[in-house]
Amino acid sequence: MSDNSKQKDNIYASPQAEISRFSFDNTVVEVFEDMIERSVPGYNKIIQMTEIIAQSLEPNLDDANDTKIGYYDLGCSLGASLLAIKRGLVKTSQADPNIIQQAEITGVDNSAAMIKRCQHIVDQDHTPIPVTIRCESIEETPIDNAMLVTLNFTLQFIPLENRLALLSKIHSGMNNQGALILSEKVCFDSAVEQEIMERLHYDFKSANGYSEMEISQKRSALENVLVAETIDAHKTRLSQAGFSNAEVWFQCFNFVSLIAYK
Ligand SMILES: C[S@@+](CC[C@H](N)C(=O)[O-])C[C@H]1O[C@@H](n2cnc3c(N)ncnc32)[C@H](O)[C@@H]1O
Repeated sequence: MSDNSKQKDNIYASPQAEISRFSFDNTVVEVFEDMIERSVPGYNKIIQMTEIIAQSLEPNLDDANDTKIGYYDLGCSLGASLLAIKRGLVKTSQADPNIIQQAEITGVDNSAAMIKRCQHIVDQDHTPIPVTIRCESIEETPIDNAMLVTLNFTLQFIPLENRLALLSKIHSGMNNQGALILSEKVCFDSAVEQEIMERLHYDFKSANGYSEMEISQKRSALENVLVAETIDAHKTRLSQAGFSNAEVWFQCFNFVSLIAYK
């Protein structure tokens, strides 16, 4: 979708008597692309690099082998990450066309409104890797022979007590060369670092046209809905889930992306 066709996020632009808990409903879906780009520093870079990471992985492709290789985008929203994976795989197919027969991309989201729009966007892309979009909780999704799983800004919405089980399931469903991209808003143990990063994030949103009231009302809506953790907490959990390496490959203020290998 071109910049001109993005609908502007004005959801919190007027004062609200009572602020409801944030949810990925129709109102959010309509402005989602604008919202995420103006709210998440580095979002476009993470999507761009997902394409490179997808290309960097080397699945076992073989003329005689029709085993399916899974690529999963969990919490796919409008499919930005899965389309980046697809672009990467289409480039890979120029060197090895077997990827077209073997790769299967699955996008999962539990917001029916998101999934409806996501399916429409995915249908506009006619490159030859099959994509299935599922409306369900990512906690229910079976992961099978996965080469790459993206969990971009979604684990933060999963109840804390369920996060390890989800990551363990992803790890178990990966093949030996598999990788996970985990992108999250994070917090910091140091009060000073927390204050600096929050301030810079505030300045980023302000520079992108959000007013003080919009920023503050959105923050209230997300309270206890988006639960951020420290980078160390994520690394520890990834290790508990069985991942052998988990490294930060991108950080901008209080937003990070980690890559973890099986
Ligand atoms: C911030 S958005 C993710 C952005 C997306 N990954 C991207 O890169 O554009 C979070 C998404 O996770 C979805 N979500 C939250 N909890 C979920 C769950 N338990 N199962 C499936 N999807 C979930 C929301 O509906 C929302 O679309």
